[in-house]
Amino acid sequence: MPTEKVELVKGVYWVGAIDWMLRDFHGLWTPRGGTYNAYLIIDEKITLIDTVAPNFTDELLDRIRTIIDPAKIDYIICQHVEPDHSASYARLIEVAPKAKIVTSKRGAEYLSAHYPGIDFPYKIVEDGGTLSLGKRTLQFVAVPMVHWPETMVSYLVEEQLLFSNDAFGMQIASSQRFADQVEEWYEPLRSYYSYIVRWNARPVLKALEKTKDVPIKIIAPSHGLIWRKDLGKIVEIYKRWSSSPEKPQALVVYSTVWGSTRKMAHAIREGVASTGVPCEIFDLERDPHSRIQGAAMEAKAIAVGAMTYNVDPYYPTQAFMPYIKHLRPTDKIGVAFGSYGWGGGATSDITKQLTAMKFGEVLDPLDVKWRPTEEDLKRCFELGKKLGQKVKAAF
Ligand SMILES: Cc1cc2nc3c(=O)[nH]c(=O)nc-3n(C[C@H](O)[C@H](O)[C@H](O)COP(=O)(O)O)c2cc1C
Ligand SMILES: [Fe+2]
Ligand SMILES: [Fe+2]
Repeated sequence: MPTEKVELVKGVYWVGAIDWMLRDFHGLWTPRGGTYNAYLIIDEKITLIDTVAPNFTDELLDRIRTIIDPAKIDYIICQHVEPDHSASYARLIEVAPKAKIVTSKRGAEYLSAHYPGIDFPYKIVEDGGTLSLGKRTLQFVAVPMVHWPETMVSYLVEEQLLFSNDAFGMQIASSQRFADQVEEWYEPLRSYYSYIVRWNARPVLKALEKTKDVPIKIIAPSHGLIWRKDLGKIVEIYKRWSSSPEKPQALVVYSTVWGSTRKMAHAIREGVASTGVPCEIFDLERDPHSRIQGAAMEAKAIAVGAMTYNVDPYYPTQAFMPYIKHLRPTDKIGVAFGSYGWGGGATSDITKQLTAMKFGEVLDPLDVKWRPTEEDLKRCFELGKKLGQKVKAAF
């Protein structure tokens, strides 16, 4: 039974749920758990912003009860229909019989499709529309494709508080609710962005442009930590990730059966490092792909390795290719490498894929037959060195 009350500003409470055991959020690796944030505004009209994932409705209701009887809720704002935020509506309209579900036209359409047979009491709002809560006003801003078509964010005008839904969110379970109380937020934020948001980078930039003159003191997302300090910094990070996320660093990823491709990978990494460019290396069979994807997003150059397995790149590399594609890697330098036994095939396939993803530059692949010789490893080192030099030249 939760007892803590988290107040963002007077009369605005966090009432979400913490999933301490979450380790995988539809494929996003969440080593530190997750959070579904909902917010309660106490005014003449009692207003709930978003709800929580399936199985967490009781926690949400318990938290609301520490502040007010849920039956008193007048408005439930549905910013985004994805079930991690909408799963509680069916229960809520029973518990809060006078509540209206406030959403966009599309939001209502999508909600009805998700929960057939439930007659939600909708109140439809337009882009830019407002809703008076009494002393305070909510304004709604459509942010289509951040990251679904119906997504909107809500601005509590008098408090300069933006409820940003999935934008600026991350998956992390923490006893602290504010980003300035937690040191290690960068990587969870980056993973969430690269896995869920980066594909829609352009709509994010549009949304940032649309809200750029709005004074904001607090950003309250629907996952993870709340931003109340250095907001300029976090907005800049989002802008950078949505335009050119690349930093002067490189990445080597590979999969192998008998270790030859791993040897090549390490020689390539050494070559990059010899130029002073930082370079991480990941075995695609050992590390969660969504973790690697965050590193890939910020890498200027990526060397993608696979041994040839029945003419194709070995499965873990095949499986990772869409993670690269969904980063929209048009400013990156790419190269394929790998070991084969007879006809090969892996590296030409990877090269084709990198080219189809519109990499800024794709170098000729590097193949090694069976085990790499000292001479082969030198070629790998030289390839890494070339990558490192290209990365340096790009900044
Ligand atoms: C199940 C299996 C299928 C393979 N298929 C091919 C192939 O179609 N063409 C080829 O050139 N080599 C093929 N090979 C050989 C490997 O590519 C070769 O052993 C390579 O050196 C392995 O690299 P690794 O040590 O990085 O795993 C195959 C190997 C295995 C185990
Ligand atoms: Fe979402
Ligand atoms: Fe979400």
